[in-house]
Parts: sequence; C-alpha cells; structure tokens
Amino acid sequence: MRATAATVIVPGGAGRTLRLWLLPAVILLSGLALRGASLPLALGLQALLAAAAAFLLHDLFGRMERIREEKCRLDEQLLQSQKLAALGELSTGLAHEINTPLAIIRQETEWMEHLLGNPPFAGNSGASEFADCLAEVMRQIGRVTEVTHNMLGFARKREPVRQETELNDLVADMLVLVEKEARNRNIAVVRDFEPDLPPLVTDSPLLRQVLLNLLNNALQAVGSDGTITVSTRQEGEACLLRVADTGPGIAPEHLDKIFNPFFTTKPPGQGTGLGLSISLAIVNRLGGTIGVDSAPGRGAVFTVRLPLAAGPTEGI
Ligand SMILES: Nc1ncnc2c1ncn2[C@@H]1O[C@H](COP(=O)(O)OP(=O)(O)OP(=O)(O)O)[C@@H](O)[C@H]1O
Ligand SMILES: [Mg+2]
Repeated sequence: MRATAATVIVPGGAGRTLRLWLLPAVILLSGLALRGASLPLALGLQALLAAAAAFLLHDLFGRMERIREEKCRLDEQLLQSQKLAALGELSTGLAHEINTPLAIIRQETEWMEHLLGNPPFAGNSGASEFADCLAEVMRQIGRVTEVTHNMLGFARKREPVRQETELNDLVADMLVLVEKEARNRNIAVVRDFEPDLPPLVTDSPLLRQVLLNLLNNALQAVGSDGTITVSTRQEGEACLLRVADTGPGIAPEHLDKIFNPFFTTKPPGQGTGLGLSISLAIVNRLGGTIGVDSAPGRGAVFTVRLPLAAGPTEGI
C-alpha cells in the first residue's frame, strides 16, 4: 500500500542503550579474561568480540537505512504539502476572479430567459430553440460554479472541530446517500463494519466529505454491475475506513499522481481532479493517513487511517 503520510518510527530507547553498551562490555570482559587465558579461550573471546562488532555494525546500517527511508517519505510529504499550500493560494484568487464575471453571466442569462417568456419574443418561431440554448448555458454555468466552489473549499483552511463520532453510524448515513444511485446501476454496496468500534474523536463533516469523495470515485470507477465494499476496523489506537471497488483499478504509472491536485483521467467536464487531493489534505489535517492499493483489473482499495483520540492537527 502506498501511504501518503508517514509516521516517524523512533527506535526503542531501552534496546538501543543495551546494544550501545554491548561492545565496550565485551571488549572489557575480553581484556580481563585474556590476561593469562589459554589459547582456545583467547580465540573464543576474540570470535565473540568479532560477532558483537558484526552485530552492532549490522544494526547500525539497518538503522541508517530506516532513517534514510523515513527522510525520503518526509521529503515527499513536505513537497506535497508545499504544492497544496501554493495551490491553495492560487485557487482562491482564481476562483474569485472567475466567480465575479460568472455571476454577471448568470444574471444576464436569467434576464434573457425572462425576456423570452414575454412579448415580443414569447411564441416567436425559434424561441424554443433559443430557450434550449439558454438552458444549456445555465447548466454549464452550474458546472463552472461547482468547480470554483471546490477550489474555494480546497483553499479554505477551516480548523477541525473534533467531537466523539460513531464511525459506523457516520458511514451508514453516507451510504444511504449513494445507495439509490448504486441500485440504479446495479452496484451492490456491502457494509463490512466492525461492531463495537470505540468512538472516534474527529471532525465528522470533514470526514464525511472524504468518504463522499471516495464513494463517488468508486461509483464512477465501477460504472455499472459491480460491488463497493466499505469496511471499518480498529487497529490498536487507530481506526481504519476502507472503500474497495470492483472497478478497472489504477494504472501503476498513475498511482503516485492521483493525489496531485487537478490530476484526472476522466473526460473533460466529468472530473476536476480535486477530490483526492482535498481528501488527502483533510485526512492529514485530522492527523491521519490515506493510502491506495490497486492494480489494473483488480479494482481499487482506499484506506483512511485515523487516530481514535484527537491526533495532532497538521496544516496542509
Ligand atoms: N476508485 C478508483 N478507481 C480507479 N481510479 C480511481 C479511483 N479513484 C480515483 N481514481 C483515479 O484518480 C484520479 C483522481 O481522482 P480525484 O477524485 O482526485 O479526481 P476526479 O475523480 O478525476 O475528479 P473530481 O473528484 O474532482 O470530480 C481519477 O481521475 C482516477 O483516474
Ligand atoms: Mg473524484
């Protein structure tokens, strides 16, 4: 699974101290024992010394490798945060610039629709075709408004308001919203909830938004005749929310791009490419991670991991 937010693993302090003391202790003991020791005993002690040194070196290299990997993950996370922050700034200005003329276009179109329903235009030949054109203009205005609304929502950094939330109830509520659409397309929605989950301390409206994005993506990926399985689990001090679908899956070359703002494989007009980047920013803000596991032809599984208690709040 590709986790997009990393957890720093601090090696256990007690074990490390023990290992650090091991080498001088063996050297000291060997030195003491070697005084007047027989040849086999001296050789044995030297072998022990060499084994301890090898063990320590192996341990040291292992730890350096883990630190290097962790640094790479953190660098990637930092880069993603910087991209999101820069995009937030850009989106606000852009959305504002678009919204102002858009409001005027909407007003003028509504006025034209009004004029068309009254003399001298009402009943004229071609009036109904003209009305159809205006209706199409209004539909397209609606789509642009949705995009700018998404952009503003993306840029707005609302501080999470956390409260105890029953995750299973929240998920069940959201599934009701998509189930009708799923039924129409012969998509089964399977609930795989862990009973008796402890309450989660989180911002439920933000979490709903994440789940809705994942469910919409799953519905769009499956298209028709398939299954979407939503599971909840407790794992130690965290809870997992998983959305799995039987859609076409994600191409390997797209896996590290899908969380980028504006990355979409959907035809023009059908996706803004903001759903997953907004979800990632929200989940990070809630102190969690979001990951994906997918391969072409094997569907996709998105896993959101959230701390049960209020986790640290991270800015995007
Ligand atoms: N469940 C899924 N199965 C297959 N591909 C997916 C799935 N979820 C996301 N993707 C891929 O990730 C891309 C980005 O998803 P994202 O939700 O960010 O944007 P979008 O769905 O294209 O547009 P928007 O959500 O803004 O309407 C999608 O275009 C699609 O290629
Ligand atoms: Mg989407």
